[in-house]
Amino acid sequence: MMRPMKLAGSELMFGKGSLEYIKTSVYCKRAIIVIGGKSVEKNGTLAKVEEYFHANGAQTTVFKGVEPDPHFATVKAGASVMAEWQPDLICALGGGSVMDAAKTMWVMYEHPELDTLDKILSTKPLPKLRAKARFMCIPSTSGTASEVSRSVVISDDETGHKHGLGDMEMMPDIAIVDPLVSCSMPAHVTAETGMDALTHAIEALVSNRANYVSNILAIAAAKDIVTWLPKAYADGNNMEAREMMANASMTAGLAFTNVSLGIDHSMAQTIAGFFPMAHGRICAILLPYTIEWNSQDLRAKQIYTDFAALIGTDNLAQYVRELNVAVGIPNCIRKIVPDRDAFMAVLDEMARLSLADGCTKTNPIIPTIPQFAELIEKAYLG
Ligand SMILES: [Fe+2]
Repeated sequence: MMRPMKLAGSELMFGKGSLEYIKTSVYCKRAIIVIGGKSVEKNGTLAKVEEYFHANGAQTTVFKGVEPDPHFATVKAGASVMAEWQPDLICALGGGSVMDAAKTMWVMYEHPELDTLDKILSTKPLPKLRAKARFMCIPSTSGTASEVSRSVVISDDETGHKHGLGDMEMMPDIAIVDPLVSCSMPAHVTAETGMDALTHAIEALVSNRANYVSNILAIAAAKDIVTWLPKAYADGNNMEAREMMANASMTAGLAFTNVSLGIDHSMAQTIAGFFPMAHGRICAILLPYTIEWNSQDLRAKQIYTDFAALIGTDNLAQYVRELNVAVGIPNCIRKIVPDRDAFMAVLDEMARLSLADGCTKTNPIIPTIPQFAELIEKAYLG
């Protein structure tokens, strides 16, 4: 039976200059702005966001230092700052890691009894949020779509393994997707996050929960990404390309957060838990192998074929391989994890964890553990 669709929170703003929406329409008393590294400070976005809040009489504080692939310790640190500051609005300003960490901080701030990652992961569904604060996202990359998603990925402090959690309660109330915020992304981040967005769209398209609306969103997003990503990668100042990528990434998010993903993400999250690497990079490397494996399923094969025809090719896996080359992404995992023995030593464990990952259940067909191992090995060797 179909699940109810939720397309973003209560306010979705996008387009050049949409950041000003804070000044014109976002009212709160105390905001906490969660950021990662220095880029949003250097490019002036943080100062602008603070200025817009202050213009409305709000006080602000900043929690800095969310790392890529955030660990639960960072979530706890942020939640304890929130417990002291008592914000009525949480604003995540950054890439997927910042947005995911801030969402999880929000859960802990609202429900301090959920004080371990295990407790948060095992509480289904999550209790109601928003008694203390609303949640807002301003993405600085175009890929994860955490600004319109119900999902987070957080790494375990001890094992480093990544844990995904999805619950509609975590859908941000306000999303502001302004390409002027993402225009200072370096080229390799543009490539990796853009390919993550393409993977979201293509996995949503073949998901066994896909529906009429999610298909419209996923097809439009995927088509725009293959058109505009090479342009945004080649020239970061191409504002039309930046805006199209910001919109397409968000649109892919609207689709996948409702119908979920597939084994590309299961394997990507697992592999990066053992061998740290950019999420979008490993998603991109795995994508042609995943398309080929899933093509055993006739329904998925037909969907790939139809989409390939729409973008003027007859082989989607090969098209993705060429797109990866065009945006500087390697064709196999070996090129980023050269220690073959170390990789093969955990192959079976990675296969087992990939099967257990939450994204696997919506894949067109479910691989067995040996099939996962074979697929991951193939993507390793190339
Ligand atoms: Fe992703």
